[in-house]
Amino acid sequence: VQVTYVAHDGAETTIDATEGDSVMQAAVANDVDGIVGECGGAMMCATCHCYVDEAWAERTGPRDEGEDDMLEGAASEITERSRLSCQIKLTAELDGLVVHLPEEQL
Ligand code: FES
Repeated sequence: VQVTYVAHDGAETTIDATEGDSVMQAAVANDVDGIVGECGGAMMCATCHCYVDEAWAERTGPRDEGEDDMLEGAASEITERSRLSCQIKLTAELDGLVVHLPEEQL
């Protein structure tokens, strides 16, 4: 499945990710700058913060409460499209997903 990461400066990186991986795991595996994923996906950090592109927000669904709590500690601004990218699992349905990356994660 393809995922496009749009950096804060507008630079786009599109990768071929493995289905079943999270958006965070796919970024880390492909050396995408802008996603850190310090806790390895355990919802214990907020360094995998991303903003789901408007066109995809419906398909990725809303964030859950645990993400809300964690995002309070995020380094960049939180918007209604903020998600922890480790909590978005890549399925065939999300092929072509676009996420935007915050200015900083730490
Ligand atoms: Fe730590 Fe997502 S990688 S919360």
